[in-house]
Order: sequence, then structure tokens, then C-alpha cells
Amino acid sequence: MKHVLFVDDEQRILDGLRRMFRPMREEWHAVFAPSGQAALDELAKAHFDVVVTDMRMPGMDGVQLLSEVRKRYPSVVRIVLTGQSDRETTLRSLGQTHQCLSKPCDPDELKRTVMRAVALRELLVNESIRSLVAGMQSLPSVPTIYNALLSEIESPKSSMESVANIISQDIGMTGKVLQLVNSAFFGLPKAITNPAQAISLLGLDTVKALVLGIHVFSAYRGAQGSHFQIEALWKHSLATGKLARMIVEQEHGLPNVADSACTAGLLHDVGVMVLAANIPEYAGDILQSAKLPGTNLSDVERERLGATHAEVGAYLLGLWGLGDSIVEAVAFHHAPTQCLNRTFGPLTAVHVANGLVREDLTGKEESLPPRVNDDYLRALGLADRLPRWRELYRRSLEMEVAHD
Ligand SMILES: [Fe+2]
Ligand SMILES: [Fe+2]
Repeated sequence: MKHVLFVDDEQRILDGLRRMFRPMREEWHAVFAPSGQAALDELAKAHFDVVVTDMRMPGMDGVQLLSEVRKRYPSVVRIVLTGQSDRETTLRSLGQTHQCLSKPCDPDELKRTVMRAVALRELLVNESIRSLVAGMQSLPSVPTIYNALLSEIESPKSSMESVANIISQDIGMTGKVLQLVNSAFFGLPKAITNPAQAISLLGLDTVKALVLGIHVFSAYRGAQGSHFQIEALWKHSLATGKLARMIVEQEHGLPNVADSACTAGLLHDVGVMVLAANIPEYAGDILQSAKLPGTNLSDVERERLGATHAEVGAYLLGLWGLGDSIVEAVAFHHAPTQCLNRTFGPLTAVHVANGLVREDLTGKEESLPPRVNDDYLRALGLADRLPRWRELYRRSLEMEVAHD
């Protein structure tokens, strides 16, 4: 049984929602509250999986309510329904909400969004990590990229292209702009997976407001005793994204598949960042012990935390409303055979790219367990392609050296 709380000060809207969810009462337990305070009272009485609230309400508004929910019940999924005139408030609500849907809302869209949010919870069984991820307002950025963005934005000559170029290099910034642009609030028909396209849709003024006014981005500050190096993760992620795009292009995939693969490659290890930035034991002991010969990070994570960085990252990006193909690629990048989808796509490209980029970093692939899963490639009928993709990567590295 899924427990959903709807909050709206207009009785007419609550009645509409009640009618909409009545046929699903076997699986869904829906409760309706006429104000923010009434919603908090309901939350104090019973457990809810999802809260869907109106933005403009007398007394406590939607943003105030959701920020309270975030503090008191961080694992609850927070969705806001908002009108076009509330653009400014919607931007300000970014840290408190997981997703924004536009009003009047399409019943199917609402059902789909709530169902997807609830289904995602199954990815992460550990309740305390689920709370941690759902409570995250933003992701830290690589300090040099963050500073480059600040000086670009403050420069009188800043342009959309240069800003987009900087943002699309950074894991945290890319995740956040995609969350914003994919909220149904912007009414865009298709899932946007390319950060540069996201920025041109948002416009330079909105991006400036996000950075300077609302401070949605921040530079990562490493803690003492931490074995987490954001620059190293970033280089690995960028290389994975680039190679994933090249693999899709070599296989004549559609441009939107190449965009998704590239973005999923950039974001695939975002879970490492989430865990390292929030759990001191992870940045210290867990990352350290995963480096010992014969161990692998996912096994250590599973044993010590009951969740892997792949699951954590996929859960975060799913909550933020990023497209299924990206969430799937992130969730299964180390275990692609666990994914039910058996066609070539972003997951294939990211899994292979991550494996090949790691091979190169260690430089001793013979002694390590194979990083690219042959069974998976065989199931897709692509086992013979791996040498070509390895060659593609090798050539791209040579080109980079030649350009330096
Ligand atoms: Fe990974
Ligand atoms: Fe990786």
C-alpha cells in the first residue's frame, strides 16, 4: 500500500484528486489536507511516502510546508503543483522540492510521477540512506569549475554558450539544471538530457539568478581524513561520458541516445559524491578499504551501508525527475545484467565506457577481474564490438595527447 498526502486550499481541487485516485484505492491510500498545517497534522499521525502540494495557499504556502517536511520527514518524496505565474517561487523552491508539476495538472502525468517516485524507493532499501538522499538540496561542484562559472557570469561578456560549456562539465551543476528543466513546470514535451540544451531553454537570466541569487551551486570542500577526491571522480566521469557518447555514435545511435549516454556517463558515479559528502566513514574508511587488492567498491558498500553508490545515484536522479534511460544507466552501470532492458542504449555505453576508462587508469587490467561484463554484451549480441570500442578509446586518448 502506498501512502500519498495531497494538500490544497481549494476544496474543488481536492475533490477532483479524490475522484482521480478512487479507482486505485486498493494500492493507494490517499489522504487530503486543506492547508499546510492540516498536512503537518496528518504527517504527525501516520507515515506517508509522497506529499503533493499546491504552491499558493493562505498561511503556510507550499514551499514552507515542504521545507518543514524536508526537515521533519526527509525520506518523504516532495512534489509541488504550481501555476505559470509562480515562476520565481518555483525557482526558489528548488531545494525543497523533488519535482514540480504544472497546474492544471494532467491526471495521468500526476499518477505517473507519483508512481515512479514510489517505485524508485524499491531501489534503496536502507531507510537512513534514503532519507539522506531525499534530503539533499544540491550537489557540490568541482571548485575550479565553480569559480570559472562565477567569473564567467560576473563578466559583462558572458554568453549562453560559455556558461553552458562550463555547467555541462560539472556533475553537480548538470544534475541540478536537468532537474529544473525536466520539471513539468516548463511544459516541455520530451525529457531533456543535454545540459547545454537545458541552459538555452532556461535562459541566461534564470541561470544567473540560480547561481547568484539562489545559490543552488556550491564548491566542494573536502573534510580532514577524507579519501575522496572530487577532481579524480570528475576526470573519470568526464572521460566516461565522452567515451559513452563516442560508442553510441559508432553504433549509429540517434543523437538523443548519444546525449543521454554522455550525460549518464558524467553522472554515473554521482552516488560516490553523495555518500562521500555526507558520510565521513564513507569518505574515510570505506573508500580506503575498497582500494585493497581483491575488493571492489560495490561489495564493500553493500556490506557496510546496505546500498551501493549506483543505487544511491539512481535514486537521487530519479527523485529529481531525470529521464528513465539516465536513471537506468546509473543504477546498473556495474551490474548491467540485472537490468530487464536488453537493448543497446545509454546503459550499454556507460557500462562499457566506465570499464574501459578504468582499465586505462589502473594500467594492469590482466590482474583485475574483467570490468566489462561479457555475458551482458553476448546477450545483446555485441560481444564482438568490445575490441572496436577499446580501439576507439585508445585513438581518442592519442588525439587528446596530440592536442595538448
Ligand atoms: Fe561506479
Ligand atoms: Fe565509474
